[in-house]
Amino acid sequence: MMFEMNSCFAQVVGVMCIVLLLGSVAECREVDGTLENLEYPAISCRKHSASLTDFGGVGDGKTSNTKAFQYAIGNLSNYGSDGGSLLVVPPGKWLTGSFNLTSHFTLFLHRDAIILASQDESEWPELDVLPSYGRGRDAPDGRFSSLIFGTNLTDVVVTGYNGTIDGQGSYCDIIIQGLTIVAPIDSPNTDGIDPDSCTNTRIEDCSIVTGDDCIAVKSGWDEYGIKFGMPSQHIVINRLTCSSPDSAMIALGSEMSGGIQDVRAENLTAIDTESAVRIKTAVGRGGYVKDIFVKGMNLINMKYVFWITGSYGSHPDNDFDPKALPDISGINYKDVTADYCNYTAKLEGIPNDPFKGICISNVSIASSDKKKLQWNCTDVEGVTSHVSPVPCELLPQKEEKKFDCPFPDEKLPIESVMLKTCSLTSA
Ligand SMILES: *[C@@H]1O[C@H](CO)[C@@H](O)[C@H](O)[C@H]1NC(C)=O
Ligand SMILES: *[C@@H]1O[C@H](CO)[C@@H](O)[C@H](O)[C@H]1NC(C)=O
Ligand SMILES: *[C@@H]1O[C@H](CO)[C@@H](O)[C@H](O)[C@H]1NC(C)=O
Ligand SMILES: *[C@@H]1O[C@H](CO)[C@@H](O)[C@H](O)[C@H]1NC(C)=O
Ligand SMILES: *[C@@H]1O[C@H](CO)[C@@H](O)[C@H](O)[C@H]1NC(C)=O
Ligand SMILES: *[C@@H]1O[C@H](CO)[C@@H](O)[C@H](O)[C@H]1NC(C)=O
Ligand SMILES: *[C@@H]1O[C@H](CO)[C@@H](O)[C@H](O)[C@H]1NC(C)=O
Ligand SMILES: *[C@@H]1O[C@H](CO)[C@@H](O)[C@H](O)[C@H]1NC(C)=O
Repeated sequence: MMFEMNSCFAQVVGVMCIVLLLGSVAECREVDGTLENLEYPAISCRKHSASLTDFGGVGDGKTSNTKAFQYAIGNLSNYGSDGGSLLVVPPGKWLTGSFNLTSHFTLFLHRDAIILASQDESEWPELDVLPSYGRGRDAPDGRFSSLIFGTNLTDVVVTGYNGTIDGQGSYCDIIIQGLTIVAPIDSPNTDGIDPDSCTNTRIEDCSIVTGDDCIAVKSGWDEYGIKFGMPSQHIVINRLTCSSPDSAMIALGSEMSGGIQDVRAENLTAIDTESAVRIKTAVGRGGYVKDIFVKGMNLINMKYVFWITGSYGSHPDNDFDPKALPDISGINYKDVTADYCNYTAKLEGIPNDPFKGICISNVSIASSDKKKLQWNCTDVEGVTSHVSPVPCELLPQKEEKKFDCPFPDEKLPIESVMLKTCSLTSA
């Protein structure tokens, strides 16, 4: 799944996200797929609405609805400058290949609506590579289209009453439920699960179970990302629950060559996850990861609590610049409790390019067995306070009783964007 908004590429890669806006949604009357008395949250209410069945959609789990989605959204795209539009996916199983969204648009999954990703590869067109990547990750000269896709979008919401987006395994190996993506009208960028070269992004109340990073913040790959030069910045992640046994709850990188700055993550829970908030970078990637603030993590059954990797290879081609060193600084973690963990920390900077300003405070970690927990640190500089077990020598403990790693007090504009409840009465 991928949403692209101007130069921001917010993509969901084999991942599902439940943005629980349901709390703010007034209960609607049980309706059988009609638009009667439907209430839904949005940045702006939509003037026009239609149901997928108006465009020949068949929710039998067998008929392809790719064309129906394309016709429906193509038709509704005419209303972008006339109050916007909403497409209801009624109860049923709606098999479909990739389709594109449009701006000023709400995709509403009704209760018991299931979007099933088609397993027919011809329904997944290959797209041109992203300019900031230079080549595809799936194929050298292209990349697969995502299930729900769009380019240069503004003001898009995907929401519903407990609808399901089911990738059907072989493309994404997970179930996507009630995904909501909010693209604020005052910014060209928006919420996503892989915010890639995004500014002002808010991801909240997501529950993610995946084989890869629950959230990965990215900004382009090596020389292509450096040249494109579009950072990911001002990203807020609140109340995330993640389980990813082989990957991170939140990865910063490994494609970070356009820079990642000002990420604020608060109240995170990870269960059975390899690592929590991990930086992945390497020589040749250039760019930076700075001003990262993490506060409040509850971690259970982790391989690593803290993991920073300066030798994350994987280059697009051999033209990367071996002198392009990443600048990693101002990485703050506080208020962490972790239990059943195998390793406390593996913090690995780059020789002659130390990762600076690492701050870790108020952390308590218990091991998965009675073994002594290890801190492994190389080429890092920083401080710690009230951290147990005792950190490595490169991160000496501050003596001051009150020492606390920073977390910004002032809110970002994206944090105050509110959704309102809109009503539609009959079709
Ligand atoms: C598509 O939109 C046009 C107006 O632009 C409308 O007249 C037409 O009925 C729509 N088609 C369907 C199938 O709803
Ligand atoms: C979706 O948009 C992309 C460009 O952003 C385009 O290449 C692709 O053909 C579109 N797909 C459909 C089904 O319209
Ligand atoms: C997206 O917008 C950019 C800049 O406005 C433009 O160059 C590009 O062609 C647009 N892409 C698509 C697929 O419309
Ligand atoms: C969605 O499902 C959850 C869990 O099954 C339930 O608690 C909640 O009430 C449901 N919400 C709606 C709007 O149906
Ligand atoms: C995080 O949790 C604390 C304690 O429950 C709460 O006071 C705070 O408002 C929460 N912050 C966010 C952003 O959810
Ligand atoms: C911790 O180590 C044990 C023993 O090696 C292993 O079975 C377990 O999977 C590890 N836990 C995690 C979360 O990696
Ligand atoms: C330390 O972190 C815990 C959560 O792990 C939190 O409940 C507590 O308030 C924090 N203590 C201070 C002094 O901030
Ligand atoms: C930590 O360092 C020790 C000693 O160098 C090494 O034996 C161990 O394998 C390292 N642990 C990890 C998780 O890298």
